[in-house]
Amino acid sequence: MSSADKKYELPSNAIVLPPTAQLQALLTLIRDEKTQRYSDRIIRLLVEEGLNHLPVVPKTVRTPVGLDFDGVGFEGRICGVSIMRAGEAMEAGLRDCCRSVRIGKILIQRDEETCLPKLFYAKLPEDIAERFVLLLDPMLATGGSCIKAIEVLLSHGVKEEKILFLNLIASPLGTDAVCKRFPKLRMITAWVDEGLDSHSYIVPGLGDFGDRYFL
Ligand code: PRP
Ligand code: URA
Repeated sequence: MSSADKKYELPSNAIVLPPTAQLQALLTLIRDEKTQRYSDRIIRLLVEEGLNHLPVVPKTVRTPVGLDFDGVGFEGRICGVSIMRAGEAMEAGLRDCCRSVRIGKILIQRDEETCLPKLFYAKLPEDIAERFVLLLDPMLATGGSCIKAIEVLLSHGVKEEKILFLNLIASPLGTDAVCKRFPKLRMITAWVDEGLDSHSYIVPGLGDFGDRYFL
C-alpha cells in the first residue's frame, strides 16, 4: 500500500510511523471522499513521535511514597511553525502535548497553475534560532512549499538539525526533495504514497487537505 513498503528507498532522515492497524484505519477514514476532519488522532501520533526525537537529560524526582525515581527531562526549548493554511490544522495536536508552546506561522500557497510555492508572510518567535522547531504541514507533494518554509527558518538562524518536519501524507518525490536537500533535518510522516498526478496532487492521497479541513 505504501511506497515505503515497496521499491522506494526512504532517505535515512525520514521516519514513517509504524503501519499499525489503527493508523491504517485512521488513514482510511481521512482519505474517504465522504469524510472530513478526522486527522486529529494521526496528528497526535506524529507529534508524540516528533517529541521522541528531542534530547533529554537525566532528572530525578521524589515520588509520593518518598522514593527517588531516576528519569529524564526534556532539554532545550521548542516551538511549532505551521505552513498556512493546512498546517494550522496540526497546531491543536501540538498544543495538546505541549500546552503553552509558541507557534509561528509561514503563509505559503501553491500557485494553482504552476504548482510552484509562493511565500506571502512569516511571523516567527524572535528567539526561534535557539529553539527546536516542529514544522507542521500535512501534505508533502512536490516538496516546494516545505523547502521554501525551511529556507525561511534557516534565514532566521534556525539550525537544520533542530528542525523536525511533521507530515501526514508524503510523496516519494517530495520526501527525496526535502530530505536530500536538508540531510540534517528529520522528517516524520504517517505514510508515503505512490506518487503525484498531472496536477501535482498526491495519489491516492486525500485531495486538497486545506479545503477538506477548513471549508
Ligand atoms: C498544500 C499543502 C502544502 C503544499 C504541498 O498547501 O498544505 O503546503 O500544498 O504541495 P507541494 O509539496 O507541491 O508544495 P496549499 O498551497 O494547497 O495551500 P492550503 O494550505 O491553503 O491548502
Ligand atoms: N496539497 C494538498 O492539499 N493535497 C495534495 O495532494 C497536494 C497538495
